Amino acid sequence: MHRQRTVVLISGRGSNMMSLVEAATAPGYPAEIVAVLANRPDAAGIGWAAARGIATAVVDHKTFPDRSTFEAALHREIVGFGAELVCLAGFMRVLTPNFVRLWQGRMLNIHPSLLPSFKGLHTQEQALAAGVRIAGCTVHFVVPEMDAGPIVVQGAVPVIPGDTPDSLAARILPVEHLVYPQALAMVASGKAAMVGDRVVFQSRLPLVNHSPPVISPSSDMLG
Ligand code: GRF
Repeated sequence: MHRQRTVVLISGRGSNMMSLVEAATAPGYPAEIVAVLANRPDAAGIGWAAARGIATAVVDHKTFPDRSTFEAALHREIVGFGAELVCLAGFMRVLTPNFVRLWQGRMLNIHPSLLPSFKGLHTQEQALAAGVRIAGCTVHFVVPEMDAGPIVVQGAVPVIPGDTPDSLAARILPVEHLVYPQALAMVASGKAAMVGDRVVFQSRLPLVNHSPPVISPSSDMLG
């Protein structure tokens, strides 16, 4: 089985990157993490990946005169690792349409909200301010418009009275660590693909139960 060569881009602690690396150690996982790149030299996840024997590189955006030269260097690094797929995992640089188009259909991102609600930053604050009762995370293909790409997998958690942005983020994070490896596996195996502005799933994919819920009236309701 060919495992899709995947490069993960991070900016900080890298816990989602770690979940992808761990998942990819399973026999039969359809992707291998060939390198972890960071745009910040102090990204903690870089040390973790290096200690696991994974190739790492820092492309420090501050050392480039503008976005296009930074992105050209980033692209060169990614290509140098023979990447077929790119996963953004807490990568905190906005990528220009030029860069995104180079990887369109082959680049995933994880966002800590149930998109299309609560794009951008401070997603938990936004969710709490809106008073939603369910929050979560989304793995989507990256398109030029931020946090707007076709959705591959989402995970949901309840919002509990008294939640703070931190407590909600802490409830969502473990779900991120479940859904990102699922989404990468689906894309790397060809079971999910970006076609136009949608994700098309292989028809026999047994991920989602499409049957409608059966609501049976309770004996109380029947009187
Ligand atoms: C995650 O919540 C992710 O959804 C968001 O940034 C955070 C990164 O966390 N894009 P980590 O670096 O993966 O631990």
